[in-house]
Order: sequence, then structure tokens, then C-alpha cells
Amino acid sequence: MGYLDLKKELVLAPQSENKVRLKTRLALAPMAGITHAGFRLIIKRIGGCGIFFSELIPSLSVLNQGLKHFSLYNHYEVNPFFYQLLVNRTDGLSEAISMLETLNPDGFDLNMGCTAPIVLKKGGGAALLNNPELALMIIRTLRRSTSKPFTIKLRTGKFSKTEFLEFVKSIVGEGIDALIIHPRDIKSRFTGKPCWDYVNFVIPEIDIPVFANGSINTNDDAKKVMETCDPSGLMIGRAAVKNPWIFKEIIEDRISEKHFVNLLKEYINELEKVIPEERRAGRLKEFISYFAKNYAFGHLWETKVQNAKNVSEIEKISYDFMNRNEAYMN
Ligand SMILES: Cc1cc2nc3c(=O)[nH]c(=O)nc-3n(C[C@H](O)[C@H](O)[C@H](O)COP(=O)(O)O)c2cc1C
Repeated sequence: MGYLDLKKELVLAPQSENKVRLKTRLALAPMAGITHAGFRLIIKRIGGCGIFFSELIPSLSVLNQGLKHFSLYNHYEVNPFFYQLLVNRTDGLSEAISMLETLNPDGFDLNMGCTAPIVLKKGGGAALLNNPELALMIIRTLRRSTSKPFTIKLRTGKFSKTEFLEFVKSIVGEGIDALIIHPRDIKSRFTGKPCWDYVNFVIPEIDIPVFANGSINTNDDAKKVMETCDPSGLMIGRAAVKNPWIFKEIIEDRISEKHFVNLLKEYINELEKVIPEERRAGRLKEFISYFAKNYAFGHLWETKVQNAKNVSEIEKISYDFMNRNEAYMN
């Protein structure tokens, strides 16, 4: 595998009748508050991304509230599309999966990376790394509950490299179809350099695809990670919010032509279609906190927006700012 192979198709669960074909080996990371159906559509329209994940879905909320939540819906059938599940117990998990399968996802992913304090306190996300027995029971239950491809997105936690490899081998032994490794411990959250040597250490030892994730912010970063770790693919999160063209740029190996004002208009238009009105301003502020980084004085735009009361106020502030400032194009 090399950088150029990112353009090649990847098939997950190739032996299964539910196999999933990725047109490229680039994945849009699940990001709560950000990767809703409208944002996924924007990424798909631009091109280059091979697989999409939902925002994290607590399996318990599916059980307790049914299939009402807007984040469950893949309105535009942007595929392949996997539900990412936040799970801290096995009870009710099979029922939650059966309910979600009625919405016809292409697969499921287990969240073993979230470090939000509330999630850790309840024993889900990255806290599962500290409870390998529970993690294995959950993985086993999930595997038995669906014949669709099943991936796991995990951090390296506080494992040493050898302990991590041992843990990874045990979960791969449960029959999962790909791993996404974000090589950071829990404390680092999203900062510091990812420990690529963990990814390097694990890849030659397991026989399922591994996606590398963490601070891949540019085409050059993508090249470096491919050179250092040789993963089957890359997953990109924050950089795709700042620069939704990043997947295309990596696949085409050149900077894309960008129209920032049009992109923001498209984003707001999609928000109106897929997000309930009372949530739109919050979602838009969060998006702009990344997107504004395309401008030298973007922090001024971001601060003004944070104090705005509704979407139309945010729109006005944003277009005023964007019309008066030049964005970086790279
Ligand atoms: C706002 C935000 C929300 C996130 N939500 C999730 C989530 O729902 N599930 C998950 O596995 N990771 C979540 N993450 C982590 C990302 O998927 C990714 O692993 C992390 O940001 C590192 O990749 P990046 O450097 O490309 O952003 C979130 C990250 C951010 C910044």
C-alpha cells in the first residue's frame, strides 16, 4: 500500500453477502454535532470520500426513544454508511441493532474512542479500553447481532505497544471487519502527536484492514502517514470540517478550487432540511468554529458568531466577514 493506493477500491467483509465496497480508502470520521446527513451530502458532492459514519448513537437511546432522533437518518443515502454506536452494556444491544437495521445501514461501528467526560463516567467510548472484559462481551454481542460489516474505532489508551497488540488481536478474533485506530491515550484527547508507532506495530500482525486516524490535516500529512504506517486507509475528522475538499485533494493530489461562501450557503441550506430548528444555530456555530480557520482573522468571525442568537444573525455576520476577507486557498 502506498499513497496512490488510497484511490483503489477496498472491500470490507469480502466473503460476506453483505460486503461493502469503498470507492476510495478515505473515511469521514464520526463527529458528534458535525457529521449529520447534510454535512455528509456536502462531502459526497465534493468527492473523494469512500465511507461515512453517523454521529455517535447511544444504543440505549435507540432502545428507550425508538428511531425518532434526527441523527439516525441518512436522508440522501450517502453510502456506504455505518452507524457508530456508543455502548456501555450488553443488555438490549441486539434489540437496538435490530431496530437500526430497519433503517438499512451498510454496517456498524463501535465507539471505543470517545473521551467526553460524561461518556467516560458512564463507562462507554474510550472507557471500554480500561475494561477489556466488558469490551469483549459487547463486541461478541454486537457481532452475533448483525451479519453486516462491523468495525471498531479505538484509541490506544494507556496500553503499552505489546499490550495494545494483544488487545487488538483479541478483538479481531471476534470477527470484526476493520479497525480504525486513533493512536492517542485518553488524557491527550485531541492534542499532541498521534503515536503512529502503535499503528505501525499492529498492522503487520493482523489480517483485517486498518484505517489510521488523527491529525491528518493536509495532503502532505496523508502522504506521511501512508509512508510511516502503511495502513489500508485513512480517516479524517476535524480537517474535513475546516476543509471539506480535503478528500478530493488527497485523491487528486492537488489543491482544489474552493468557493467558501457557496459552501457555507450549501451548509445552511442542508441544516434547514435535516436539523430541527432549535438545533440549527448551535450546529452552525460549531461548523464555523472549524471553517473560520480558513481565514487569517477567522477568530474574529468565530467570536462574533458565538454571540449570535439565531441562524439569520449568524448568516449576516458570516457573509459580511467573508465578503471583506480573503480565505487561504491551501
Ligand atoms: C467535535 C468532535 C466530535 C467527535 N465525535 C466523535 C464521535 O461521535 N465518535 C467518535 O468515534 N469520535 C468522535 N470524535 C473524534 C473523531 O472522530 C476523530 O477520531 C478525532 O477528531 C481525531 O481525528 P482528526 O484529527 O482527523 O479530527 C469527535 C471529534 C470532534 C472534534
